[in-house]
Amino acid sequence: MNIIQVQDYTEMSRTAAEIVIGKVKGNPNIKLGLATGGTPKGMYDNLIEDHVRNHTSYEHVTSFNLDEYIGLKPNDPNSYHFYMDDSLFTHININKERTHLPNGTADDTNRECQRYDEMIDSVGGIDLQILGIGQNGHIGFNEPGTSFTSGTHVVTLEDSTRQANARYFDSIDEVPTHAVTMGISTIMKSKEILLLISGEEKAETLKKLIHGNISEEFPASILKKHNSVTIIADQKALSGVI
Ligand code: F6R
Repeated sequence: MNIIQVQDYTEMSRTAAEIVIGKVKGNPNIKLGLATGGTPKGMYDNLIEDHVRNHTSYEHVTSFNLDEYIGLKPNDPNSYHFYMDDSLFTHININKERTHLPNGTADDTNRECQRYDEMIDSVGGIDLQILGIGQNGHIGFNEPGTSFTSGTHVVTLEDSTRQANARYFDSIDEVPTHAVTMGISTIMKSKEILLLISGEEKAETLKKLIHGNISEEFPASILKKHNSVTIIADQKALSGVI
């Protein structure tokens, strides 16, 4: 795993955006894997700013998001569909038909998971996957204990994850209990992975990732087996490591 050390969230976001912009320019048909949450928000802001200023084109880009809550409609302000539209898609020239998120309101969620993996395979896989990381080491919504061989699947969210995401809802009771997430093997099939990590609340997490063993109890640890992972970490996240 290659680690790029940056000062703070602002520099992490700018550095990540520069990498993504370079990849999009190098391969206008790129298949991007995207994440939601607080971590990539600044990167998306930088992508938008660059699109407005330098007209980087996303016309031929295809995207697949990591996850979506079960039970939230795409127009629900707390859904990841809404987050992506609001944070990125409506501000750049991406073709909405080439943006994909799991359907959290599908009648048959297991069928939906299969469909999602098939769709990713049908375009030749993800070229660059953006990841954040949960304090417990989750990637996507793959909580500790998830099999490393898992494809896209339905998960029960841990209380700690619901608690961490409650900041976006009126109350913890409104945070869905289940989600659809790309599986660990889905993520590992990406040709390249860019993991963003910022803030002191992730310092222990980064320390475990770098110094800990590879174990299903710490899902992100599998990234050590991937041959092209870049971590962009800020000083606060790195405070437990250096
Ligand atoms: C989001 C996702 C999650 C988040 C993680 C960190 O699509 O899959 O794994 O990346 O929960 O969330 P933040 O960035 O809000 O700390």
